[in-house]
Amino acid sequence: MHAGLRTIATAPRISALARSRELVEPALRAAVESLHPEPRRMAAFSFGWCEADGTPSSGNGGKGVRQALAVLAVEAVGAPVEHAVPAAVAVELIHTFSLIHDDVMDGDERRRHRDAVWKAFGTGPAVLAGDALFALGVRTLSEAGGEHGGRAVGLLAGTLGELVHGQADDLLFETRPWTGPEAVGVAEYRDMAARKTGSLLGCAMALGPALASASPPVVGTFAEAGRLLGIAFQAVDDVLGIWGDPLVTGKPVHSDLRRGKKTLPVLAAMALDGAAAARLARLLGSPGPLSAADAERAAVLVADAGGREFALAEARRQVAAARDRLGAVARVDGAVDEIAELCAYLLERQV
Ligand code: IPE
Ligand code: IPE
Ligand code: MG
Ligand code: MG
Repeated sequence: MHAGLRTIATAPRISALARSRELVEPALRAAVESLHPEPRRMAAFSFGWCEADGTPSSGNGGKGVRQALAVLAVEAVGAPVEHAVPAAVAVELIHTFSLIHDDVMDGDERRRHRDAVWKAFGTGPAVLAGDALFALGVRTLSEAGGEHGGRAVGLLAGTLGELVHGQADDLLFETRPWTGPEAVGVAEYRDMAARKTGSLLGCAMALGPALASASPPVVGTFAEAGRLLGIAFQAVDDVLGIWGDPLVTGKPVHSDLRRGKKTLPVLAAMALDGAAAARLARLLGSPGPLSAADAERAAVLVADAGGREFALAEARRQVAAARDRLGAVARVDGAVDEIAELCAYLLERQV
């Protein structure tokens, strides 16, 4: 992918995403405005608000799934939507911090239809920009938390620990073999995905109700539902990392295959089809970088062995489990309908 290539407009037409963006973006921009000018420019670049040189732009700054979950969870417990704003700002700041650092860890050069922050500004500045957003996320929540601030910051702190644990497993799994007793299993994958991605989606759903005085069991149920949605979200992300269109996702394709990432479609293909497993292990385990042709061969093998369909079925199962949990706590019909619409989008998304 090069900056000059055509990109496809990808703003999803989901009412909760658009509505939440409108509600949250002024506060998100105001928070970023408070940063030191250098991390501020890198953060604004990542959110799609400016080019690398600071020229304003209306780029594609991410889907805003986490802010929408924060808004919908608050609405689902019947609390005033204002309670959602600091929660939504905090989770989008933390999410963008995690993406900026993730691209350094994964060596990925493209994000949100533009260069990754490390590619555009250098690795050191990108680490700092991530740190700045991390600190800003915590500060936003602690300043806005009122009487429930301590509870909200506690939830976020737990989430950050989980996210780091998940990222550590994700990186460690790269070094594990594809076959044999040390191979990564699907259950281990689920735990890793629940931590690296599910923890923040769970936090997005739990923070608003916590700020709005919901009871601990209700907050816990939202956190658990978000965590399950996160496993589904990651499974779909893994599928898009192999069969997605970079012009639509704004991210590289086949990079996970080249790095030996233990993504769900590949792990499932290995578990489902012994002959494919042997061929895949030879292809993916061969020394040196995987060629583009071999990555394409691996993608075909994974699909033929049923890995793609397994990952999408896993996503559907996790979303169904999340909706069951939410059914027990979501009280407001309109919000429940919008959560269902967002869940359907999470499964069908191409971006
Ligand atoms: C990407 O998240 C990272 C994962 C957890 C899979 P998103 O797909 O939500 O990223 P943006 O915010 O839309 O760019
Ligand atoms: C997503 O990691 C989780 C975090 C960023 C914490 P991935 O590496 O799987 O996500 P993408 O595909 O780069 O967005
Ligand atoms: Mg990555
Ligand atoms: Mg990663």
